[in-house]
Amino acid sequence: MISAAGLGKRFGDGWVFRGVTFQLPERGLVVVLGPNGSGKTTLLKILATLLEPTEGEVEILGLSWGEARRRLRREVLYAHQEPVVLSGTVEDNLFCRDYDVEDALGLRPVLRKKAKSLSGGYRKLVTLARVLACRPKVALLDEPTAFLDPEKRQIAAAHIAEYSRKNLVVWTSHYPSELPPAERLYELRDGALKELSNIR
Ligand SMILES: Nc1ncnc2c1ncn2[C@@H]1O[C@H](COP(=O)(O)OP(=O)(O)O)[C@@H](O)[C@H]1O
Ligand SMILES: [Mg+2]
Repeated sequence: MISAAGLGKRFGDGWVFRGVTFQLPERGLVVVLGPNGSGKTTLLKILATLLEPTEGEVEILGLSWGEARRRLRREVLYAHQEPVVLSGTVEDNLFCRDYDVEDALGLRPVLRKKAKSLSGGYRKLVTLARVLACRPKVALLDEPTAFLDPEKRQIAAAHIAEYSRKNLVVWTSHYPSELPPAERLYELRDGALKELSNIR
């Protein structure tokens, strides 16, 4: 459903990664580990067609990268690493509404609050809810538990794990210890993507 062959991205003179090849399953949790600056965000943004690859092939739900950028709207969604919210209330930030998601992530009590007035943790939950409530087939979640306190981390992780039972979730992280069991584990490091055995 999402695959890449010989994928590479360069900014200016420097390659972030090259030769990235993978085939992701239709559903399940896929984790991409890697230190800061290794290219995790860049890779997710390419899969979300927000960034254009420099070389290589990507297939997204049966479409080439260019077709996917033109044709896909809500099937493949990216949730920002930073807790990005728009002006207005939390409700105004939720383009798709799903009471179960709002409930599960603990957003119901803050729906009427100004999104920009919330703490980083709540703003991060809004960025997650914005994506998950639209029920994308592929949810690209960039460090989804960053900014969250331990309790919210657990709640978000459980919800994301549940979501990945029926959909594909790609989760980037540099904290392997706090991840739910994953279908597949990769590491992005020194410009290359490696599949790791699923042992932590
Ligand atoms: N728009 C950009 N222009 C130039 N360099 C960039 C841009 N975006 C990311 N980079 C560089 O690409 C590398 C990978 O960044 P990123 O994908 O954010 O890594 P990660 O998410 O793993 O921390 C970094 O060296 C970063 O500085
Ligand atoms: Mg990143």
